[in-house]
Amino acid sequence: MPLGRVAAGVRLAAIGCVLSVAADNPSTTSPQPFVWQKAHATFYGGADASDTMGGACGYGNLFSEGYGTRTAALSTVLFNDGAACGQCYKIACDRKRADPLFCKPGVTVTVTATNFCPPNDALPNDNGGWCNPPRPHFDMAQPAWEKIGVYRGGIIPVMYQRVPCVKRGGVRFRINGHDYFNLVLVSNVGAAGSIKSMDIKSSDSNDWMPMARNWGANWHSLANLTGKMLSFRLTNTDGHTLVFNNVVPKGWNFGQSFASKLQF
Ligand SMILES: *[C@@H]1O[C@H](CO)[C@@H](O)[C@H](O)[C@H]1NC(C)=O
Repeated sequence: MPLGRVAAGVRLAAIGCVLSVAADNPSTTSPQPFVWQKAHATFYGGADASDTMGGACGYGNLFSEGYGTRTAALSTVLFNDGAACGQCYKIACDRKRADPLFCKPGVTVTVTATNFCPPNDALPNDNGGWCNPPRPHFDMAQPAWEKIGVYRGGIIPVMYQRVPCVKRGGVRFRINGHDYFNLVLVSNVGAAGSIKSMDIKSSDSNDWMPMARNWGANWHSLANLTGKMLSFRLTNTDGHTLVFNNVVPKGWNFGQSFASKLQF
């Protein structure tokens, strides 16, 4: 009974899970690190997580990008228009609120936010519209969800907290777009996981130019920087700034990826 991204909850409702779920009130849209909060969790994407590829953060192939199957789609209040892309959450089944049959006790799983779980206005918050505001909700890749929940349960109450992301290697950049439209995907971000601001500079200039979040973890600049050696300056949501000097070599092409050796 995996939940489709758009049809979230429809199949759950159809199989008649016996549930009594009150909407959880999120205490904040940007969860404090290391504070346990309440939410619920479902799963999607299949047993091999193949249908979790892509996603509203824009990371594309989650396996080749290093995210694997430890990923989740976040409801509106948690996703925060993409500002939460890349953040990491430690999640445990909430034994106090769960049916013990569907809860795997004593285990946690840590996921990276890679996707958006859209609201479903056709379904009530407490019966299928799990990702409707104001509910904090994680629609997790099935293999991640099954670390903490029993398949038959379909939906479980969880406790979650934001935790630092542990990533292998440096921050990565992929450039898409065209002349006068550089769309740069920032991925494999450690620590806070999420980026607050980004600037770009070509090697023939001394001026940093601000970029704007376009969608998910994609930032854009409207300058024509095609083929020039480029540097990026990132500030994460913890306020730490890193400069990736000349991380993109002269002569680059749209569609290429560049791995840095720097990490937050
Ligand atoms: C953008 O800059 C490149 C390199 O300087 C140049 O070859 C290209 O013609 C420019 N594109 C446009 C649309 O002006």
